[in-house]
Amino acid sequence: MRAVILISGRGSNMEALLRAGLPVEFAAVISNRPEAEGLAVAQGFGVATAVVDHRGHVDRASFDAALAAEIDRHEPDLVILAGFMRVLTEGFVRRYLGRMINIHPALLPSFPGLHTHRRALEAGVKVHGCTVHYVTPEVDVGPIIIQAAVPVLPDDDEAGLAGRVLAQEHRIYPQAVRWLAEGRLSMGEAGRVDLRAPREAMGPLVVPALDSA
Ligand code: GAR
Repeated sequence: MRAVILISGRGSNMEALLRAGLPVEFAAVISNRPEAEGLAVAQGFGVATAVVDHRGHVDRASFDAALAAEIDRHEPDLVILAGFMRVLTEGFVRRYLGRMINIHPALLPSFPGLHTHRRALEAGVKVHGCTVHYVTPEVDVGPIIIQAAVPVLPDDDEAGLAGRVLAQEHRIYPQAVRWLAEGRLSMGEAGRVDLRAPREAMGPLVVPALDSA
């Protein structure tokens, strides 16, 4: 499987993917920001990098067309959004439908959009987390592949919570890409995914813990 990763900044999820020993050829890392720190990280792994700067385009459609041209040069089977902070046009999303995935720092469908950790703290939820999902035209609502939950602690602040969620992002994104590379995962009907994987026994996650725990 050939994959292209799209980033906008730090690139820690990208790095987790490059480190994971996946059966994937990472053909390129593309950023919409020339100053994205992740570009140097990718080069350190020997992965080709490219920049398609959104600031050089008059509208979303023209940026997305340039981005698609750069992606298609690498003929990927999979497009991986890893902290790629751009809203994509419907035409762009449809071009890669079923072969483009994203990681979002919340338990979707809760907290789509930005500032997810702050909003989770404000809402007083006891469980927060992250989601890997297929990308569909509506932002942050595509079929969910895998989620990790973390407890929200009484003294949590935004940075602490973000750090614990990010550590889980780095675990679930490589798992999702591995399932795809092994041909065990596809986008199903009506917002579902088809995952051909053995299901381990899974217990409930209760936060705060029950007295009996
Ligand atoms: C990650 O937390 C990712 O989930 C989030 O941006 C961060 C990027 O960090 N993505 C979104 O908010 C997408 N809407 P990274 O560049 O270190 O991977």
